[in-house]
Amino acid sequence: MRIGIIGAGHIGGTLAMLFTRAGHEVAISNSRGPETLKDLVAELGPKARAVTSREAAAFGDVVVVSIPFGRYRELPADAFAGKIVIDTNNYYPQRDGHFEDLDTNRTTSSEMLQTHLRRARVVKAFNSIRWEHLRDLGRPRGASDRIALPISGDDTEAKRVVAQLIDQIGFDAVDAGTLAEGGRRHQPGTSLYLADATSKELERRLATV
Ligand SMILES: NC(=O)c1ccc[n+]([C@@H]2O[C@H](COP(=O)([O-])OP(=O)(O)OC[C@H]3O[C@@H](n4cnc5c(N)ncnc54)[C@H](OP(=O)(O)O)[C@@H]3O)[C@@H](O)[C@H]2O)c1
Repeated sequence: MRIGIIGAGHIGGTLAMLFTRAGHEVAISNSRGPETLKDLVAELGPKARAVTSREAAAFGDVVVVSIPFGRYRELPADAFAGKIVIDTNNYYPQRDGHFEDLDTNRTTSSEMLQTHLRRARVVKAFNSIRWEHLRDLGRPRGASDRIALPISGDDTEAKRVVAQLIDQIGFDAVDAGTLAEGGRRHQPGTSLYLADATSKELERRLATV
């Protein structure tokens, strides 16, 4: 599969490593331009290339957005038409600035991203695991210590594709509902956030929120 990754930091860079290892083609971008990503793509090997964010969005069948949430409006929305978008972002007001609709729980950061990328299908995933654990804790399917990641979204097919990618890099996926539901159920501060729990345990916690 072709995967665009926008944001080459802790989570974006780790996903680029895991997805190339799983055999996917990756095009990765940051805010400063592809020339600043030379060392990273050299390390990632021949399945990775450095591009602009517009090019990363155009390249991917799936496009990961992994940037500080407060900058989401900088994304070139027209380039995301028809794409499955993986939203790894979390809202941290001290980093992102205050968004009143989030502070008053009127909406979620993922719904705001979906509104901006209106012709894409956004799935929230990878927001609830520390990047070091994403890097280190992948396990083969069926392993007793395999942990699960909650995902949420409004499009069933998009969630199926994202769940399959998660499985390929060593984790189970657990459906936490729509963007509105899941966006609240696995955001910072919840019992699913940073849980590092098996699918059985995540499902148990989901039943109580
Ligand atoms: N760190 C974690 O363990 C963790 C876990 C789960 C979720 N998250 C969430 O995932 C997101 C990414 O976190 P991170 O820790 O990977 O961040 P990070 O290490 O600070 O990396 C952020 C990346 O985003 C890029 N970026 C910033 N603005 C951009 C823009 N407008 N267009 C394109 N690229 C842009 C930066 O590029 P430049 O350097 O060129 O500006 C950088 O490559 C955040 O929303 C975070 O809250 C983080």
